[in-house]
Amino acid sequence: MIWMIVQFASTIVLAVLSGIAAWRASRIHRAPTKEKLRTRLRWTFVWMGIAGLFLLVKTAAVIVLGASGEVFIEDKIAMQLPMLAIAIAAIVWFQIPAARAIRAIAARRSKDALMPLDRLTAAAPRWVWPIQLGWIASLLSVIQQFFIAQWPLRIGTVLAVWLVYAAAGCALWMRAKSRCRRLAETGSPDRGAWGARLIWRGGALLTAVLLVAVWFGLSAQASRVPERLSMAGQNHDHGHAHDVAAAAAPAVSVASLTGPQSGTPDRRFVLEAQKTTVTLPTGEKKEAWTFNGQLPGPELRVRQGDLVEVTLINRDVEAGVTIHWHGVDVPNAEDGVAGMTQDAVMPGGRYVYRFVAEDAGTYWYHSHHQSSKQVQMGLYGVFIVEPTAAPPQPSVDLAVVLHDWPTDNGTSVTLGSLDRLQRKIADPGTLVRLRFVNAGNLPAPIFVTGVPFRVTAIDGTDLHEPGELADTRLDLAAGGRYDVTFVMPNSAVGVSRSAGSFAQDGNVLVISPSDEGMPPEAVNGNAFDPASYGTPERTELGLDTRYDRHYKLIFDNRLGFYNGQFTFVQTINGRVFPDAPMFAVREGERVKMTFVNRGFEVHPMHLHGHHIQVLSRNGKAVTGSPWIADTLNVAPGETYEAAFVADNPGIWMDHCHNLDHAASGMSAHVAYEGVFSPYEIGSATVNQPE
Ligand code: C2O
Ligand code: CU
Repeated sequence: MIWMIVQFASTIVLAVLSGIAAWRASRIHRAPTKEKLRTRLRWTFVWMGIAGLFLLVKTAAVIVLGASGEVFIEDKIAMQLPMLAIAIAAIVWFQIPAARAIRAIAARRSKDALMPLDRLTAAAPRWVWPIQLGWIASLLSVIQQFFIAQWPLRIGTVLAVWLVYAAAGCALWMRAKSRCRRLAETGSPDRGAWGARLIWRGGALLTAVLLVAVWFGLSAQASRVPERLSMAGQNHDHGHAHDVAAAAAPAVSVASLTGPQSGTPDRRFVLEAQKTTVTLPTGEKKEAWTFNGQLPGPELRVRQGDLVEVTLINRDVEAGVTIHWHGVDVPNAEDGVAGMTQDAVMPGGRYVYRFVAEDAGTYWYHSHHQSSKQVQMGLYGVFIVEPTAAPPQPSVDLAVVLHDWPTDNGTSVTLGSLDRLQRKIADPGTLVRLRFVNAGNLPAPIFVTGVPFRVTAIDGTDLHEPGELADTRLDLAAGGRYDVTFVMPNSAVGVSRSAGSFAQDGNVLVISPSDEGMPPEAVNGNAFDPASYGTPERTELGLDTRYDRHYKLIFDNRLGFYNGQFTFVQTINGRVFPDAPMFAVREGERVKMTFVNRGFEVHPMHLHGHHIQVLSRNGKAVTGSPWIADTLNVAPGETYEAAFVADNPGIWMDHCHNLDHAASGMSAHVAYEGVFSPYEIGSATVNQPE
């Protein structure tokens, strides 16, 4: 991670420094005296020297990054470093000998003016051009990194960048030559009439601006999401499949992949989406969008095996709303994605979800229509499936939802529903279970203090033989869940979102045997590491399993266009929605996915309808309990191998659960062959899944 930043920063600094050096080098021949020439020569080398240092830093960073995987450096190897190396060679070959000749003319403490011949020597292309070439190489590195950043690298792109390099190199050489010629003819370092120069420069600038404008316009246009678009339509990627026949004509509609349509539900719920005014602890009143007027929405608790029926009613959320059952592997038609598995439910409308709650665990639900906005506004709640085989019943079983509220003075974080101290009473010696749900966009630190505890489940799946932890920080992925259990001690236990002492007023949960007592302060200890926690257990998927498909997902950042807007985009394999890849699978297949984050933002990747088992991180196999997740936090510089069994036919979103990233295009799909969606997104429809 640190080396990625070093690499990035040194690339930018290198471009600036080499630019200064090139500019300096091109002006030394205008020195009025031989002494001045000497100092100017020296200053040019000072700037080149510093630039050289940053080139060394950059090279070191590339070597370190290369050790953690070739995807981090392939663009540097294919373009940036060789271009810079050519410039260095030119400097050694031409510029340094030329500098010697100039140095022979320059003299210490000489007030003598330069002879015309001296000026020619000091303006020689051999002197000026190499560092200019270096500047072009570093400029192209910056452009390549900020604007192109693609994976896999396309040969056409590489050739185009090299072509620009060659053309710019030739143009600069010719320019240096002609400058020299003019100097020889006129014998004066003056640059000609300013009027003519202005016209030339102005013309060049105008052309450049025009070219950029045209490129902007075309790219913006090309990035626009069409008025109507089937999310199941494009960019089928088949991965390294062992046997991919031509996909058969789509025969199964997403709409037909429902839960049981008949049968009396074991549990019935009605969730009504509505605008509600809530009062924040600061006293500020805010409009929230809620289910049943509650924030978070009602906690839904069912038993494993229950047939659940939830009726969604939209009272007055104008844009429409849906419900997605995050982490629950429901049949596709019950998945609640606007434009993919259903149309958004408009005010006055209703939609019925029916599914069997097969797996016990902690889940949550949220609108999957304008999800980046609607989750932030409050359209979410907790969904808990209690196991049939009853383990020891906890005396306190509490869901704690972490959510970030946008307020006028920045974002305020909340634990549970509001950010003030909350108390719970538990009898000493009894079992306490806390179910943490991160409904925010960023990984959330959680501190449990005053008692040794265990993380008993991740994303709803129980861990195998979890050990006791203390002074350990839990970093919960956005969209993810951790279940924590402990035996209630005789003193107070605290939960907070930051280290330090427990104040009376902020973001804190205290569980105590009586109404008083404060827990010890939270220590910012080691981070909890799921990869080495608990003990191994056999599962169907492992590193040596034979996989039917293998997909590689490379996450990156660059500047670019999304839906007509020029922004900072988060990419999957260099692309954003709707160009992002569609990963094809067939029912019954074992699928491996490799995630690599070569950008500098955290991406909690969430696959709908399936759970993925994490096999390795940064090349090291998972050594603890099987780690099965539905939302996997991929931090900058990290590589994960994960796998799942394709056992739930449909078309499933596979997106970043930093919902703002998803809303700016970081969204892909896993699609079963032969399945199509009759729903559409785009400005001509009501549906905006993200
Ligand atoms: Cu929690 Cu596609 O979302
Ligand atoms: Cu992201």
